[in-house]
Amino acid sequence: MKMSLPILFIFSLILISSSPPHTAALDFCIADLTLPTGPAGYPCKNAANVTADDFVYSGLGIAGNTSNLFKSAVTTAFVTEFPGLNGLGLSMARGDIAPGGVIPMHTHPSAHELLIIIQGSVVAGLISSSDNQVYLKTLNKGDIMLLPKGLLHFQVNTGQVPVIEFVSFSDPDPGLQILANALFANSLPSEYIEKVTFLDDAQVKKLKAVFGGTG
Ligand SMILES: *[C@@H]1O[C@H](CO)[C@@H](O)[C@H](O)[C@H]1NC(C)=O
Ligand SMILES: *[C@@H]1O[C@H](CO)[C@@H](O)[C@H](O)[C@H]1NC(C)=O
Repeated sequence: MKMSLPILFIFSLILISSSPPHTAALDFCIADLTLPTGPAGYPCKNAANVTADDFVYSGLGIAGNTSNLFKSAVTTAFVTEFPGLNGLGLSMARGDIAPGGVIPMHTHPSAHELLIIIQGSVVAGLISSSDNQVYLKTLNKGDIMLLPKGLLHFQVNTGQVPVIEFVSFSDPDPGLQILANALFANSLPSEYIEKVTFLDDAQVKKLKAVFGGTG
Protein backbone atom coordinates (compact mmCIF):
# COMPACT_ATOMS: atom_id res chain seq x y z
CA MET A 1 0.00 0.00 0.00
CA LYS A 2 1.24 3.46 -0.90
CA MET A 3 0.64 6.19 1.72
CA SER A 4 0.54 9.85 0.86
CA LEU A 5 3.02 11.99 2.76
CA PRO A 6 0.50 13.77 5.08
CA ILE A 7 -1.07 10.45 6.09
CA LEU A 8 2.34 8.98 6.83
CA PHE A 9 3.12 12.06 8.93
CA ILE A 10 -0.03 11.72 11.04
CA PHE A 11 0.59 7.99 11.39
CA SER A 12 4.10 8.68 12.77
CA LEU A 13 2.71 11.22 15.23
CA ILE A 14 0.27 8.62 16.59
CA LEU A 15 3.12 6.12 16.93
CA ILE A 16 5.33 8.64 18.78
CA SER A 17 2.60 9.76 21.19
CA SER A 18 1.64 6.17 22.05
CA SER A 19 5.19 5.05 22.94
CA PRO A 20 6.21 5.24 26.64
CA PRO A 21 7.73 8.50 27.90
CA HIS A 22 11.52 8.34 27.68
CA THR A 23 12.09 10.82 30.48
CA ALA A 24 10.84 8.53 33.30
CA ALA A 25 13.55 6.59 35.17
CA LEU A 26 13.20 2.81 34.99
CA ASP A 27 12.90 1.97 38.69
CA PHE A 28 12.85 -1.79 38.15
CA CYS A 29 12.37 -4.42 35.49
CA ILE A 30 10.65 -7.46 36.97
CA ALA A 31 11.37 -10.33 34.56
CA ASP A 32 8.60 -11.61 32.34
CA LEU A 33 9.77 -15.25 32.40
CA THR A 34 7.33 -16.20 29.66
CA LEU A 35 9.50 -14.31 27.15
CA PRO A 36 12.99 -15.41 26.02
CA THR A 37 16.03 -14.03 27.87
CA GLY A 38 18.96 -12.27 26.17
CA PRO A 39 22.32 -10.75 27.10
CA ALA A 40 20.55 -7.90 28.96
CA GLY A 41 18.21 -10.29 30.81
CA TYR A 42 14.48 -10.85 30.39
CA PRO A 43 12.00 -8.27 29.06
CA CYS A 44 10.15 -6.37 31.81
CA LYS A 45 6.78 -7.43 33.14
CA ASN A 46 4.11 -4.81 32.46
CA ALA A 47 4.48 -2.21 35.25
CA ALA A 48 0.71 -2.10 35.75
CA ASN A 49 0.83 -5.73 36.85
CA VAL A 50 3.72 -5.36 39.33
CA THR A 51 2.81 -5.96 43.01
CA ALA A 52 4.69 -6.01 46.34
CA ASP A 53 5.08 -9.78 45.89
CA ASP A 54 7.43 -9.13 42.96
CA PHE A 55 9.95 -7.66 45.44
CA VAL A 56 9.78 -10.60 47.87
CA TYR A 57 10.98 -14.21 47.62
CA SER A 58 10.13 -16.63 50.41
CA GLY A 59 11.94 -19.76 49.22
CA LEU A 60 15.03 -19.68 51.45
CA GLY A 61 13.36 -20.23 54.82
CA ILE A 62 13.54 -24.01 54.98
CA ALA A 63 16.48 -26.38 54.78
CA GLY A 64 17.09 -28.17 51.49
CA ASN A 65 17.09 -31.98 51.31
CA THR A 66 20.61 -33.22 52.13
CA SER A 67 19.86 -36.94 51.51
CA ASN A 68 22.19 -37.19 48.53
CA LEU A 69 25.76 -38.08 47.60
CA PHE A 70 27.15 -34.72 48.75
CA LYS A 71 25.01 -34.61 51.92
CA SER A 72 24.23 -31.01 51.04
CA ALA A 73 21.62 -28.88 49.30
CA VAL A 74 21.76 -25.49 47.64
CA THR A 75 18.51 -23.58 47.31
CA THR A 76 18.77 -20.68 44.87
CA ALA A 77 17.11 -17.30 44.59
CA PHE A 78 18.34 -16.52 41.09
CA VAL A 79 16.35 -14.55 38.52
CA THR A 80 14.36 -17.62 37.45
CA GLU A 81 13.05 -18.11 41.01
CA PHE A 82 12.99 -14.41 41.94
CA PRO A 83 12.16 -12.44 38.76
CA GLY A 84 12.61 -9.09 40.55
CA LEU A 85 16.40 -9.58 40.29
CA ASN A 86 16.23 -9.23 36.51
CA GLY A 87 18.95 -6.93 35.15
CA LEU A 88 20.38 -6.25 38.61
CA GLY A 89 23.88 -7.31 39.71
CA LEU A 90 22.86 -9.57 42.57
CA SER A 91 21.19 -12.78 43.74
CA MET A 92 21.24 -15.14 46.74
CA ALA A 93 21.22 -18.78 47.73
CA ARG A 94 21.02 -20.91 50.86
CA GLY A 95 23.30 -23.84 51.57
CA ASP A 96 22.58 -26.70 53.97
CA ILE A 97 25.37 -29.18 54.70
CA ALA A 98 24.83 -32.22 56.95
CA PRO A 99 27.71 -33.31 59.21
CA GLY A 100 30.34 -34.90 56.95
CA GLY A 101 28.75 -33.31 53.88
CA VAL A 102 30.37 -31.17 51.20
CA ILE A 103 29.63 -28.43 48.74
CA PRO A 104 31.72 -30.03 45.97
CA MET A 105 34.45 -28.20 44.04
CA HIS A 106 32.68 -25.79 41.68
CA THR A 107 32.77 -22.36 40.04
CA HIS A 108 30.28 -19.62 39.16
CA PRO A 109 31.32 -18.40 35.71
CA SER A 110 29.61 -15.01 35.98
CA ALA A 111 29.57 -13.92 39.62
CA HIS A 112 31.64 -13.07 42.66
CA GLU A 113 30.27 -14.67 45.83
CA LEU A 114 30.09 -13.70 49.49
CA LEU A 115 29.43 -16.60 51.87
CA ILE A 116 28.17 -16.11 55.44
CA ILE A 117 27.92 -18.94 57.99
CA ILE A 118 24.70 -18.82 60.06
CA GLN A 119 25.08 -22.13 61.95
CA GLY A 120 27.92 -24.63 62.37
CA SER A 121 31.38 -24.43 60.88
CA VAL A 122 33.00 -25.43 57.60
CA VAL A 123 36.43 -25.78 56.12
CA ALA A 124 36.22 -23.63 53.00
CA GLY A 125 38.78 -23.46 50.24
CA LEU A 126 39.39 -21.63 47.02
CA ILE A 127 42.03 -22.07 44.34
CA SER A 128 43.50 -19.26 42.28
CA SER A 129 43.51 -19.60 38.50
CA SER A 130 46.86 -17.90 37.98
CA ASP A 131 49.05 -20.32 39.97
CA ASN A 132 46.66 -22.82 41.60
CA GLN A 133 47.39 -21.37 45.03
CA VAL A 134 45.13 -22.88 47.72
CA TYR A 135 43.43 -20.63 50.27
CA LEU A 136 41.92 -22.73 53.11
CA LYS A 137 40.07 -21.43 56.13
CA THR A 138 37.81 -22.74 58.89
CA LEU A 139 34.69 -20.55 58.99
CA ASN A 140 32.46 -20.25 62.05
CA LYS A 141 29.11 -18.61 62.70
CA GLY A 142 29.11 -15.02 61.43
CA ASP A 143 32.25 -15.37 59.28
CA ILE A 144 32.05 -14.07 55.73
CA MET A 145 34.29 -15.33 52.93
CA LEU A 146 34.87 -13.82 49.50
CA LEU A 147 34.93 -16.22 46.54
CA PRO A 148 35.98 -14.31 43.42
CA LYS A 149 34.27 -14.90 40.08
CA GLY A 150 35.23 -18.02 38.17
CA LEU A 151 37.53 -19.54 40.83
CA LEU A 152 37.12 -23.13 41.98
CA HIS A 153 35.91 -23.40 45.58
CA PHE A 154 34.36 -25.90 48.01
CA GLN A 155 33.26 -26.43 51.61
CA VAL A 156 33.33 -29.40 53.98
CA ASN A 157 31.25 -29.65 57.16
CA THR A 158 33.77 -31.08 59.63
CA GLY A 159 31.55 -30.36 62.66
CA GLN A 160 28.80 -32.24 64.47
CA VAL A 161 25.84 -30.01 63.56
CA PRO A 162 24.17 -29.21 60.24
CA VAL A 163 25.63 -26.10 58.60
CA ILE A 164 23.31 -23.32 57.47
CA GLU A 165 24.86 -20.69 55.23
CA PHE A 166 23.70 -17.96 52.90
CA VAL A 167 25.53 -16.62 49.88
CA SER A 168 25.09 -13.51 47.78
CA PHE A 169 26.22 -13.26 44.17
CA SER A 170 27.12 -10.30 41.97
CA ASP A 171 24.81 -11.45 39.17
CA PRO A 172 21.12 -12.44 38.94
CA ASP A 173 22.18 -15.65 37.15
CA PRO A 174 25.65 -16.67 38.49
CA GLY A 175 25.90 -20.02 36.71
CA LEU A 176 27.26 -23.15 38.39
CA GLN A 177 29.72 -25.77 37.17
CA ILE A 178 30.64 -28.68 39.45
CA LEU A 179 34.07 -30.09 38.62
CA ALA A 180 33.28 -33.74 39.40
CA ASN A 181 30.07 -33.59 37.35
CA ALA A 182 31.91 -32.02 34.40
CA LEU A 183 34.34 -34.95 34.40
CA PHE A 184 32.26 -37.93 35.56
CA ALA A 185 28.52 -37.19 35.19
CA ASN A 186 28.27 -36.98 31.39
CA SER A 187 29.01 -39.06 28.29
CA LEU A 188 32.62 -37.94 27.76
CA PRO A 189 34.35 -41.22 26.74
CA SER A 190 36.44 -42.72 29.56
CA GLU A 191 39.50 -43.07 27.30
CA TYR A 192 39.73 -39.27 26.95
CA ILE A 193 39.15 -38.70 30.68
CA GLU A 194 42.00 -41.14 31.35
CA LYS A 195 44.24 -39.24 28.89
CA VAL A 196 43.53 -35.80 30.36
CA THR A 197 43.49 -36.75 34.05
CA PHE A 198 46.06 -39.60 34.15
CA LEU A 199 43.54 -41.67 36.15
CA ASP A 200 43.38 -45.35 35.20
CA ASP A 201 40.37 -47.02 33.59
CA ALA A 202 39.11 -48.62 36.81
CA GLN A 203 39.24 -45.30 38.66
CA VAL A 204 37.36 -43.47 35.89
CA LYS A 205 34.70 -46.20 35.65
CA LYS A 206 34.26 -46.14 39.42
CA LEU A 207 33.83 -42.36 39.47
CA LYS A 208 31.40 -42.48 36.52
CA ALA A 209 29.31 -44.97 38.49
CA VAL A 210 29.31 -42.64 41.51
CA PHE A 211 28.40 -39.49 39.58
CA GLY A 212 26.11 -41.05 36.95
CA GLY A 213 28.27 -40.77 33.85
CA THR A 214 28.25 -43.13 30.86
CA GLY A 215 30.82 -44.17 28.25
C1 LIG B 1 -1.94 -7.91 33.52
O1 LIG B 1 -2.86 -8.59 34.35
C2 LIG B 1 -4.13 -8.77 33.76
C3 LIG B 1 -5.07 -9.33 34.81
O2 LIG B 1 -4.47 -10.42 35.50
C4 LIG B 1 -3.98 -9.68 32.55
O3 LIG B 1 -5.22 -9.89 31.92
C5 LIG B 1 -3.03 -9.05 31.57
O4 LIG B 1 -2.77 -9.95 30.51
C6 LIG B 1 -1.71 -8.70 32.24
N1 LIG B 1 -0.93 -7.92 31.32
C7 LIG B 1 0.32 -8.26 31.01
C8 LIG B 1 0.98 -7.40 30.00
O5 LIG B 1 0.90 -9.20 31.52
C1 LIG C 1 14.96 -36.28 50.35
O1 LIG C 1 15.56 -36.89 49.22
C2 LIG C 1 15.53 -38.31 49.28
C3 LIG C 1 16.36 -38.82 48.10
O2 LIG C 1 15.93 -38.26 46.90
C4 LIG C 1 14.10 -38.79 49.27
O3 LIG C 1 14.07 -40.19 49.33
C5 LIG C 1 13.37 -38.18 50.46
O4 LIG C 1 12.00 -38.52 50.39
C6 LIG C 1 13.51 -36.67 50.46
N1 LIG C 1 12.96 -36.16 51.72
C7 LIG C 1 12.08 -35.18 51.75
C8 LIG C 1 11.64 -34.73 53.09
O5 LIG C 1 11.63 -34.66 50.73
